Amino acid sequence: MKIVAINGSPRKGGNNAQLLEVVRKEVEAAGVEFEVVQPGANVKPCMACYNCLSTGSLRCVMDDDGVNEIIAKCIEADGILLASPVYHSGIAGNMKCVLDRLFLAAGCGVNHMRHKVGGALCTLRRSGGSETYHQLLATMDCMEMVIATSDYWGVAHGADPGEVMQDEEGLEVAARLGRNMAWLVKAVAAAKDDAPAYAPRPMTNFIR
Ligand SMILES: Cc1cc2nc3c(=O)[nH]c(=O)nc-3n(C[C@H](O)[C@H](O)[C@H](O)COP(=O)(O)O)c2cc1C
Repeated sequence: MKIVAINGSPRKGGNNAQLLEVVRKEVEAAGVEFEVVQPGANVKPCMACYNCLSTGSLRCVMDDDGVNEIIAKCIEADGILLASPVYHSGIAGNMKCVLDRLFLAAGCGVNHMRHKVGGALCTLRRSGGSETYHQLLATMDCMEMVIATSDYWGVAHGADPGEVMQDEEGLEVAARLGRNMAWLVKAVAAAKDDAPAYAPRPMTNFIR
């Protein structure tokens, strides 16, 4: 069993990186593997060529910025944790680039995200946490994923790198999310034989 966390921060060793280590401790203690991937700032946006969908390649045609490796890891994973800094009340731009390409390539055709456990966290100095947390969740809650929660929204406070470690409540929210995700990946695996069968959904654009 494995959970892959995508750290959308462009900076290394920042608040999301440190918060994810708190989650790692809980997930690994539950016997589930935990890997953090950090795409960095040099990822390109989706250019809407739809090649990934029309070919079913599960890959993006832009093959030089590490996103295809992240897509492959997410397809293999049992759970996906999305973490991002809050940038102007939303997710970081590079995280948006990654998520658009990940979920178009691996979720929108044959849905390889189906029944994976999803979770979200964000860090911020002061405001925009709830919007950002829900933006991260929104990328997953149309993918037939099993969304894990904590007992409060996945938002932890800290501006300079490491400040998040002083947000005692935020750390517990993240740790609890980790415990719940680890438990859910095991529960979903145990119930695999009872999973509802896949049925394709009619797709319209409202005018035909
Ligand atoms: C471009 C930019 C925009 C930001 N916008 C916000 C914001 O809207 N609200 C907020 O509270 N913090 C904002 N911040 C602060 C970061 O969210 C905060 O420092 C976060 O913990 C950084 O996470 P990291 O260390 O993992 O990169 C912004 C930072 C940057 C660089």
